[in-house]
Amino acid sequence: MSIRVFAPASMGNVSVGFDVLGGALAPVDGCLLGDFVTISETNGGQGDIVVNTVGKFAHKLPSDPKQNILYDCAVHYHKALRNKGQSAKTIEMVLEKELPVGSGLGSSAASVVAAFYALNEFYDNAFNQRQLLIMMGELEGQISGSVHYDNVAPSYLGGLQLMVEEGETLCSSLPTFDEWYWVVAYSGVKVSTSEAREIMPKQVDLKTALLFGKNLSAFVDACHRRDDELAAKLLVDVIAEPLRGPIIPKFLENKAAMLDMGALASGISGSGPTLFAVTDNLTKAEQLAQYLNDNYIQNDDGFSHVCKLDNQGARREAKRGTV
Ligand code: HSE
Repeated sequence: MSIRVFAPASMGNVSVGFDVLGGALAPVDGCLLGDFVTISETNGGQGDIVVNTVGKFAHKLPSDPKQNILYDCAVHYHKALRNKGQSAKTIEMVLEKELPVGSGLGSSAASVVAAFYALNEFYDNAFNQRQLLIMMGELEGQISGSVHYDNVAPSYLGGLQLMVEEGETLCSSLPTFDEWYWVVAYSGVKVSTSEAREIMPKQVDLKTALLFGKNLSAFVDACHRRDDELAAKLLVDVIAEPLRGPIIPKFLENKAAMLDMGALASGISGSGPTLFAVTDNLTKAEQLAQYLNDNYIQNDDGFSHVCKLDNQGARREAKRGTV
């Protein structure tokens, strides 16, 4: 038996919700922007794990398979399985690494989500959605320096996810605006999430905290009341962008250009350098993407996409080369 899973790219923070809001991305041209993991049973000792990597950005990952995050995901999952009295099989996992590392598009989260989703399907859904999401958060935290769910939750569950982390509720899916296009452009420059987190202040002042709380709560309220105009105005980052924006090459001038060209909002996707811009008009979205292609992208690794939110999240996909 062999199972292939896709997990979409995601944008953390969405400006207004540092560490607690994230959206999954689906390019409107129908291409799948994200990572794939295939899992199959293989020969060997009980519970052995073999990891292979292919794909456009495979060469950016450590060459030792045991340094690959997939290996850690499988070790973690197998341990959890044994803890509940189930035995682990010997497995081979293949990561198709299609998202650039350090792009702000939830690259590590997509690998982690696809890995755990595939493992859980392989083991007949031994863990429930909540248990799986906790595992995803833990492993993502291992790479990025602290547990934050704003990439793994949308990549796993789709849509726009607000982290709740209270009682049994880990996250909540927000109502979204179907007419919004999310233009994303990765400049091609690598930004390490853990380094981008190190420049964050350990504390924020009261004025900033109140503004953050006001913006986020008003945004969530506007989503529920279907007030798209107000919601777009509230996509403002008072926590991370003032520090990260100036050090991301060409970010500030390109964000200003997006707003000048009529974008409803613009900001940093995750910890950057991917820039996002919101519009409710497809022609405008294509113009914004073209502008970013010409002005923001700095090497052959860069790209832009006009996206909607991916409401499906992680899912099984046909094997490579099959329809
Ligand atoms: N919320 C995280 C950060 C997302 O901004 O550091 C990283 O993609």
